[in-house]
Amino acid sequence: MRIAVIGLGGMGSALAERLLDEGHELEVWNRSPGRAELFDDRAGILADPDAATADAVVVSVADDDSLLQVALPDGAARSAWAGMLVVNASTVAPATQTTLAAAYGGRFVAAPILGAPHAVRSGQARWLVGGPASARSTLAPLWAAFATTTDAGEDPARASVVKLLSNQMLLVGVAMVAETVRLGRAAGLEDDAITDLLRDSPMLAPGLANRIDGLVDPDHAGWFTGPLAAKDLTHALGLGGAESPVTTAARDAYLEVAAEGWADADVTALVELGRRR
Ligand SMILES: NC(=O)c1ccc[n+]([C@@H]2O[C@H](COP(=O)([O-])OP(=O)(O)OC[C@H]3O[C@@H](n4cnc5c(N)ncnc54)[C@H](OP(=O)(O)O)[C@@H]3O)[C@@H](O)[C@H]2O)c1
Repeated sequence: MRIAVIGLGGMGSALAERLLDEGHELEVWNRSPGRAELFDDRAGILADPDAATADAVVVSVADDDSLLQVALPDGAARSAWAGMLVVNASTVAPATQTTLAAAYGGRFVAAPILGAPHAVRSGQARWLVGGPASARSTLAPLWAAFATTTDAGEDPARASVVKLLSNQMLLVGVAMVAETVRLGRAAGLEDDAITDLLRDSPMLAPGLANRIDGLVDPDHAGWFTGPLAAKDLTHALGLGGAESPVTTAARDAYLEVAAEGWADADVTALVELGRRR
């Protein structure tokens, strides 16, 4: 399939690499120079998103505002993408998927991704796919790039709801374990003792267990930044009117630690909250 990948951050780059490995023909674009050029011997580099000539355009950008700037410049669908299927792989609010579906009609599919960039690269990630059946079916070669696809049905907004609920569990969980590490350290336990406790604990789900090294790594070099986490939790809180004090507290903690200088670090930097104050 001929696919244009728009946005080459951690996830977009990993996705582009996976699609190349799977034998797809690629076009790539990124707002800032440098990232697209890493693909110059393997993909066509687009000067502008309007230059895409692929069968499908897959957008992977930071948030709702950037997605709307890329996919709906001047508030309308890009006429240059007229014959193409448009796939949004970014994590955004359900209402944003609905806005894009209204603009692109039956050609729009929401496909947020469950999994880290390394899982995307190895094909172990999961698509959460919502959109018209005919478009989902035409895009079968794209879904085949990952081990698993969850079909969220005809409504693109539903794919966002599933994605946001999953991230809410992950991110509140990371916030909880970050506090376990802080409390353990405060009580005088060495990091080795804390990581042994975490690795042996039946309380820790697999999705949290792969954060243990990041929590005790003083650089918190990872793949999922605090501002992206705060964005996802804000959207999760927007799903319902009920009180969600635990999710609210976790969201505020990610914002606070980012403001303390950890905005480019992994979510595990939450363990540093207040240290620089
Ligand atoms: N990281 C993860 O583990 C993970 C997992 C699942 C889903 N996601 C979701 O996947 C999406 C991408 O995440 P990421 O980790 O790749 O983020 P990232 O590394 O921060 O990359 C963000 C990308 O968005 C682009 N961008 C930002 N503002 C833009 C704008 N106004 N116009 C055009 N492009 C813009 C950036 O371009 P520049 O290079 O020019 O800044 C960059 O390509 C997010 O929605 C995230 O929530 C992430």
